[in-house]
Amino acid sequence: MSLSAGHPIIAIPGPSPVPARVLRAMHRVSPDIYGAEVLAVVQNVVARLKQLAGTAAHVAPYIGNGHAGWEAVTSNLFNRDDRVLVIQSGHFGRSWADVMTRQGVAVEAMDFGLAPPDPARLAERLARPDAAGIVAVCVCQTDTASSARADIQALKAAMGDHPALLVVDAIASLGCAPMKMDDWGVDVLIAASQKGLMCPPGLCFAWFSDRVVRRGRTGLTTPYWDWHPRATTDAAWQFWGGTPPVQLVYALDEALRMLLEEEGLEAAWARHETLARACWAAFDAWGAGNPAIRLVVADPECRAHAVTAVQLPQADELRAWLTERLGVTLGVGLGAADPANALRVAHMGHANAPMLLGTLASMQAGMTALGIAHGPGGIDAAIRVIAERA
Ligand SMILES: Cc1ncc(COP(=O)(O)O)c(C=O)c1O
Repeated sequence: MSLSAGHPIIAIPGPSPVPARVLRAMHRVSPDIYGAEVLAVVQNVVARLKQLAGTAAHVAPYIGNGHAGWEAVTSNLFNRDDRVLVIQSGHFGRSWADVMTRQGVAVEAMDFGLAPPDPARLAERLARPDAAGIVAVCVCQTDTASSARADIQALKAAMGDHPALLVVDAIASLGCAPMKMDDWGVDVLIAASQKGLMCPPGLCFAWFSDRVVRRGRTGLTTPYWDWHPRATTDAAWQFWGGTPPVQLVYALDEALRMLLEEEGLEAAWARHETLARACWAAFDAWGAGNPAIRLVVADPECRAHAVTAVQLPQADELRAWLTERLGVTLGVGLGAADPANALRVAHMGHANAPMLLGTLASMQAGMTALGIAHGPGGIDAAIRVIAERA
């Protein structure tokens, strides 16, 4: 029997649930894109995007998804055959490296499998004589596939006085986990609208430091991707390289109001951490009764706060059961060695304790119905974390 009528729960790691308020903010007829109101909204959004990233430097908005953000950054930072070190902790680091390679950059991968990056290995690599020509170190703060979280400050410290730029993909972490671009010495940051920022997909952003501005344009910079005019203009169209995506800008305006002005960024980070810890507690209890249920990242301090990747027998069957019978949708086991027996639970953006507890309790119902062995007490363990920290 299906028990899915009612509000569905979408717990995939992007696009994340869009708040009704954000959807309502989009629901408007097209305004005059040359009018004062649109310009004011765009400028206000841009100012708050800097606050969100913890920078006083520059931000260029684009119409596009995360892949567009990657391409924008390569186009502005690198020349053909520039040497770039790409740290990989799962699927997205590898895809990013592939995009850069196809754009003509000479990528060297530093692959940690599904584990978080080890700063000591970076320090060791950059100390070798042949590291002198490395132009940038690129890393995902959260690899959404493995749910490994990179310690950006530790990686920056490991770079020592090597002059490479530090480029961070915060597509799955911005708004969910701390990011202090200026304090941490990040040169370039990339994010997109559809995860922690609670908006539909369609916008991406590149923040860049003064040091990067001084590099000027590169051999790969094309007019559309060029971030300099986007970051220095006071014409609404030029921020976007053409017609502004007005309805999405209104959505972002509302979402940033909710995140920065109403909840507060630090409170949002704390909410994500609590939801993550509650989720891990349930899996630890389930896994105590079945070693085949396992969080992909062993060390809690290196786990993402926005998404949790797990190995779980019959994960594909469980996901299908949950969607059909209960209206709960979990993420696929992207990048796992055995994707049919892996899944991801997202707790990012517009996510709260009842949504997470509902998701976990639904999972336990599914494991019970499908005969997937699991230890007792998973839901109680999650509840305890919520009760202690709320
Ligand atoms: C960390 C990270 N980087 C890049 C991407 C690619 O973004 P998109 O799918 O929006 O192109 C994703 C997508 O999930 C991601 O999680």
